[in-house]
Order: sequence, then structure tokens, then C-alpha cells
Amino acid sequence: MEQLIIKGGVVLEGEVKISGAKNAAVAILPAALLASGTSCISNVPDIMDIKNLIEGLKSLGVSCDTTVENEIKMDCTNIATQKAVNEHVKKIRASYYFLGALLGRFKKAEVTMPGGCSIGDRPIDQHIKGFKALGATVKLEHGLIKVEAEKLVGTNIYLDVISVGATINIMLAATLAEGKTVLENCAKEPHVVDVANFLNKLGANIKGAGTDTIKIVGVKELKGTDYSIISDQIEAGTYMVGVAMTKGDVVIKNIIPKHLESITSKLREVGCTIDIMGDSLRIHVEKELIPCRVKTMSYPGFPTDMQPQIISLLSVIKGTSQVNETVWDSRFQYVAELKRLGAKISIQGSMANVTGVDGLSGCEVTATDLRAGAALFLCGLIADGETKINNAIYIDRGYEKIEEKLRGLGVDVRRVTKDE
Ligand code: EPU
Repeated sequence: MEQLIIKGGVVLEGEVKISGAKNAAVAILPAALLASGTSCISNVPDIMDIKNLIEGLKSLGVSCDTTVENEIKMDCTNIATQKAVNEHVKKIRASYYFLGALLGRFKKAEVTMPGGCSIGDRPIDQHIKGFKALGATVKLEHGLIKVEAEKLVGTNIYLDVISVGATINIMLAATLAEGKTVLENCAKEPHVVDVANFLNKLGANIKGAGTDTIKIVGVKELKGTDYSIISDQIEAGTYMVGVAMTKGDVVIKNIIPKHLESITSKLREVGCTIDIMGDSLRIHVEKELIPCRVKTMSYPGFPTDMQPQIISLLSVIKGTSQVNETVWDSRFQYVAELKRLGAKISIQGSMANVTGVDGLSGCEVTATDLRAGAALFLCGLIADGETKINNAIYIDRGYEKIEEKLRGLGVDVRRVTKDE
């Protein structure tokens, strides 16, 4: 088991460069399957989910050249199978994008039930509803999702819940369908827009991504292209919270300020000073921070993927704060670990009541999912003594070069491998 050990009592200072967006990359790589030929994707984060995804792509016959850092050249000309079932595919949530992409191009796909972080019930009924509406049959057999269609025909689809995964997956399947698909009640996240931009660069005809309604006019074929992925709003937000917690002063580079608006505005509300400078921002703390209320929502609301991090910050702000989680039904599992460090949090249903404490005290804790891991390393930055985070592998799923980036900001961090 990998353990990350952080020595607390640091003030984050310096510069940090944000990597490509995980949740865009995990969709764009499978999306490239829709086009015969080679696509060269850059600004790809070097994280565990991407490593697993690449192994999944290779198992389909895609030739992946990863010799240039943060770049993947994918030759998708010869796809040997439409069955994505290996160990790596099982580990990632985003393996469901193989369904939409393979269904779109080959009219059939078989994929193992998606894995990923355990943050509540994670149904994919809306993905399935979309595939069926386009003309596919969908079966769940022996842990596999099997989708097949003689042909896919565009239609009107209304999503019952706003879902990033369903919006992207249906978009993938509809890209090569006959006629027009109108997808309503769509997720508006920046990564949805990034995937649509990539598909359009491959030759697709998609309009409206970033709004509630996406219109896809099916095209006959797509051709490989070059594309650079947007930067990761959640990684940026996580470092911003680290600066707020340690009362530091950091320039965060390679960001898209528009995508960070809900996070910047919340951090300004608690008292941080944030100056936007083109594709960078400077965050620093000049006064005592104050408590606040947060409600997670789909974009442009405050992201659920920042909920554990903001709770870490509120845990050390004097007074009482409230955080309402409205996206996932079980995203407070990590709170028990924060309490070990001394945080005072009580959970009632989807509401967390956080009473700020004067300080935290380092000890051994366990990450239960990716953002839970982020919350723990953030608390470790200010906790007295050492914080030892078990299951650091969860953090590696979504944070590129975590030790290197933290060290660059002055943190004393090391990793050890422990026997299970
Ligand atoms: N939902 C359904 N039916 C569906 C799909 C979703 O009821 O068919 C519900 C879910 O249960 C949830 C809500 O809709 O309550 C939103 O789920 P969504 O489909 O948007 O989530 P996802 O696509 O599975 C992505 C990210 C998550 C992020 C959510 C919400 C990827 C690979 N994952 O998941 O990222 O929390 O969107 O923004 O893109 C993370 O990065 O830490 C992470 C968990």
C-alpha cells in the first residue's frame, strides 16, 4: 500500500502549474475511437485513471504512443475488438465512454460495469435510456454491459437528471447516427464542452454544448485530429484551498478563470484575495477567514468534486459553516477520517455542519476516494506533526505529480510503500 506522509505547519508559497483536466481527458481518449486514423492529444494529465484508460484502449487494438510527456498519439485505424473487459477497464468509472464511442463507430460494444470512486449509488440508467432511444438494444449479462444496434437514428432525448457521463456518452453515440439528435437537460460542465469541441474537430456537427440543449447532426465519418485538453478546474481549486488553509501566497498557472468562477467567488467570500492575471491567478490571505454556506450543484454551481476540500478549509475557520451536497448521496464517508485529525463536523442527511477548530493534529488516516484523499492532504498541510495518508493511490487517480507539485510549494512530503 502506498502511503503519503505530510509534515504539517507549512505556508504554501511559489507557483504551481495545473495539468490537463482529468474528466475531459477520460472522455476525449475514448472519443478518439470514433475516428479511423491517428489523433494526437496533448495536455493529457499523467494520472492513474489515464494509465488505466490507455491499457483499456490498447486491449481494443489501439496503438498508443506516449513517448512525449503529457501527449498521446492514438492510431484507431485497426480496432481488433469491441469488447473492453480487462482489469484496467474495471478500475475506472470512465470506461462507460467505451460504450458510446464503440457503439457509435461499430454499432456494438461490450464493457465491464464501470468502477471508480465509491461516492454513492452511481447508476447509468440515463446513458442506457439514450442508447435505446437511438435504436440500440442494451443487455446486462455476467457483469458486462452489451449494446448493439443495426443502425443508430437521431431523435429527441430528455435526460431525467443532469448527468455529465450521460450527456457525453449520448453525444458520442449520436455523432455518427443518421439524422439529428436533440439532447435536453444536458450537463454544462467545461469538460462536456471540451469533448464536443474535440468531436467537432474530428468532423462532427455538434452545437449547443455548454447549454441545456445539445444538437447533434450525424455525419458519415470522422477523421483523426490534434487536440489540446483544457486545464483541470478541480486540481486548481484544490491548490487554491491549500493556499487558503495555510495562509500562503501562490500563483496558480495554466488555468481557465471562467471555469473557476464558483470556486474563486466562494474563496473570496471567506476572505481570500484572488487576482486573475490572464491564464494564471494569485491567491493570498491577508485577513482572518470567515465561515460560509456551500451548496454543491452541477456547473456553473459549486462542484461536488470540491466538496471535501472546502470542508477541510471550513474545518479550520472559526465559526459554523454548512455544506449541502446535492449531487452524490454518499460523499461524506471521508468525514470520519477528518475527525481523526480533530475536525468537528456533524452530518445530517445531505448537510454537513462544520464548526471551525483552532488546529488539527496529524495521525494515520485512510483515503476512501480521490477527493477524500485531497481533503486529507490539505488537512495534513496544517496539522500538527505528520499526517500519514493510507491508500494514496486514490490521490494518484486524479492529481498529477502530487509530491513534486507540493514540494515546489514548500511542503515536506514523502511516499512510502507499506506491506498490506
Ligand atoms: N445519475 C443518474 N443516472 C445516470 C447518471 C447519473 O441518476 O444515468 C445521477 C448520479 O447518481 C448523480 C448525478 O446524476 O447523483 C450526477 O452524476 P454524473 O453522471 O454527472 O456523474 P458521472 O458522470 O458519473 C462525473 C465525474 C465525477 C463528478 C460528476 C459530477 C467523470 C469520470 N466523473 O461523474 O468526478 O463527481 O461527474 O460532476 O467524469 C471526481 O473527479 O472525483 C469525480 C467523482
